[in-house]
Amino acid sequence: MVFVLVTRRLPGEALPELRRRLGPPVGVRLWDSDDPMPRETLLDKVRGATGLLCLLTDRVDGEVFDRAGPGLKVVSNVAVGYDNVDVGQATQRGIMVTNTPGVLTETTADLAWTLILAACRRLPEAIDHLRELQWQTWRTLELAGLDVFGATLGVVGAGRIGQAVARRATGFSMRILYHDERRDPTFERETGAGFLPTLAELLRKADVVTLHVPLTDGTRGLIGRREFELMKPTAVLVNTSRGPVVDEAALAEALACRRIFAAGLDVYEREPLPADSPLRQLTNIVLLPHVGSATIRTRTRMALLAVDNLVAALDGRKPPSLVNPDVGRRGE
Ligand code: DGY
Repeated sequence: MVFVLVTRRLPGEALPELRRRLGPPVGVRLWDSDDPMPRETLLDKVRGATGLLCLLTDRVDGEVFDRAGPGLKVVSNVAVGYDNVDVGQATQRGIMVTNTPGVLTETTADLAWTLILAACRRLPEAIDHLRELQWQTWRTLELAGLDVFGATLGVVGAGRIGQAVARRATGFSMRILYHDERRDPTFERETGAGFLPTLAELLRKADVVTLHVPLTDGTRGLIGRREFELMKPTAVLVNTSRGPVVDEAALAEALACRRIFAAGLDVYEREPLPADSPLRQLTNIVLLPHVGSATIRTRTRMALLAVDNLVAALDGRKPPSLVNPDVGRRGE
């Protein structure tokens, strides 16, 4: 039987839509759960699949491709990030890899801003203060944080999400600086953002540093001990990209000794964040459980886009968001 494997329940109409659009003879095999498929189950169930619709918690590597066999045509990831998929291996084997850019941009930018505001204004501390009955009177510097209005925002990685975060900063009269591999004159014109050719320069100048780079060999550990040394003691670091972009041990140390003012994280080196993570002991940090794109509408749109990608690939069309366009060019 020809089938696609779906590694998790999908929101909204995504699954019926997938079933409807594939139709016989292609069947859908679903891991009917909100929890990830255990690795061994994935390796077992993927045998003979023609398509795989998966999540960022599924590691899709050479072993998975070996088990799937030569019939596997497409891996459709329900996320914009695809560091969980070995794209090099997929390309070599002629397997298309797709992701879900665009539909989650504004939602993720909103969450980056949630973290910026919460970290600058010490929201977790303020909430605990009230709940734990410590609020006795009005004190001038009690829970005093940092102004966001008029501060300097440093955007590291000015792709879709980085730019959407920067656009929101204009409403706070912020000075916007960015560092990326490429300059973007349109973005600069629209937001007044200033390009900085080095990350070091951005780290020295920014009050709020917000990270929007994909996880690659080049960005793993991008922000570590040396980078914290460059930042202002009043700086705030926000990460909604991928956890391993930041060296967490170095961050914990920088926060504990007040080398920087605060941080806001949605992503971690290991997810879920381990119970013994030193980050949990800190007060000057906002910790969220990887919810950047978590609105009902956006998660549904991501799933539908993943369905579009998968169906297009199996129909022999170019998927709307193909990550490895070189896939068809083997041997040319
Ligand atoms: C992504 O899409 O890569 C996010 O991390 C989850 O929305």
